[in-house]
Amino acid sequence: MDRFLVTGGARLAGEVSVSGAKNSVLKLMAAALLAEGTTVLTNVPDILDVTIMGEVLRRLGCDVVRGEASVSITVPAVPGHEADYELVRRIRASIAVLGPLVARCGQAKVALPGGDAIGSRGLDMHVAGLVKLGASISSEHGYLVATAPRLTGASVWLDFPSVGATENLLMAAALAKGTTVIDNAAREPEIVDLCTMLQRMGARIGGVGTSTLEVEGVERLHAVEHVTVPDRIVAGTWAVAAVMTRGDVTVLGGRPEHLEMPLDKLVQSGAEVSAVDGGFRVVMDRRPVAVDVVTLPYPGFATDFQPLFLGLNTVAEGTAMITENVFESRWMFVNELVRLGADVRTDGHHAVVRGKELLSGAPVTAHDIRAGAGLVLAGLVADGVTTVSEVHHVDRGYEGFVDKLVALGADVRRESVRPEPWEL
Ligand code: UD1
Repeated sequence: MDRFLVTGGARLAGEVSVSGAKNSVLKLMAAALLAEGTTVLTNVPDILDVTIMGEVLRRLGCDVVRGEASVSITVPAVPGHEADYELVRRIRASIAVLGPLVARCGQAKVALPGGDAIGSRGLDMHVAGLVKLGASISSEHGYLVATAPRLTGASVWLDFPSVGATENLLMAAALAKGTTVIDNAAREPEIVDLCTMLQRMGARIGGVGTSTLEVEGVERLHAVEHVTVPDRIVAGTWAVAAVMTRGDVTVLGGRPEHLEMPLDKLVQSGAEVSAVDGGFRVVMDRRPVAVDVVTLPYPGFATDFQPLFLGLNTVAEGTAMITENVFESRWMFVNELVRLGADVRTDGHHAVVRGKELLSGAPVTAHDIRAGAGLVLAGLVADGVTTVSEVHHVDRGYEGFVDKLVALGADVRRESVRPEPWEL
């Protein structure tokens, strides 16, 4: 029930460090299932989703130990094969255990994650791909039930370069008999990170970082140690925060080569971006200029940045058009921005944002991770206090968000809210 109280007006300045990517580490944790023994992941962010994914693995019979920025996962010779609804509905990424479990155990029963605040997020490509590899899959009582005595390599063409489907198929194909070709595969840095770890485990994968992945299946994989790739979305969040608050922020651990499109947009809006030892620096000394954004699979502009750039445009000079091509209903948070006085109109895939000099602090609600972060950044450039509720969403993806904001000079604090008697 916690909320953030954000008092606007501060200019962010200083250094902030970025840890490993949520969208990578959750899949690396699932990939550990592919090998018996202890896999150790480092540069692991201290976020709620890692805790929940750890619980998913524990219930599959793994021993999961969290250390300082690390997690060690000991997988038994025969893991369990069921991921239940209570956990899967809290963390959609747990669907990533489907591919490894079918490949390793010959069976999997994984709850359907259900609706999401940013769109329907189907699983048809995950299912169709695994069926091509020889799995039988049915939907029973809210679960996907998959069986396959031994998966067999095949050619799979994805309708869309889905991140989750590419990952599930990669992991399944790694232990399949023969060669699998995944065409129109996703190319995100997190996919490259997963490929790198799988290769270290003994997988044979060609075309890493391209849209055609060729996986020659092997009999078995072995447990490894692996360093998680830095979180480009978190790094980009700090960059946007610097620009919105007309600040000067050095993002340590962020890799500019994974952020070419968003950093270029920030330069177009008037910021100075430079590479520094171990990261990059973003300096802004004036009101940002409006920038259009069109979301696309990597290397296009990431959909996860969309709420942040939409927020930036609410205080920019001029009018911007934001086009969302990846998730059909990622506009829920627009109504929250409107509560802060933003001028935003949506129509289908598009949002038109007319910039204002200043927003006006108000109580708002976070509906997902990036929208939550976007609302906090908007609060930083609003007059008065903005109260952001349901910050458990932000906790899912941002390590020490409030502490890091405060260290950069923001006036933000976390408050626990006791439920009203009628809510109990
Ligand atoms: C991942 C990221 C998420 C990011 C997204 C796109 C994680 C934990 N989450 O989500 O932060 O915003 O990539 O970069 O890594 N789709 C189908 N059928 C399928 C699979 C996907 O229709 O079988 C659709 C989805 O509904 C969505 C689009 O394809 O509209 C993209 O989804 P996908 O790339 O799979 O995203 P996720 O892996 O869910």
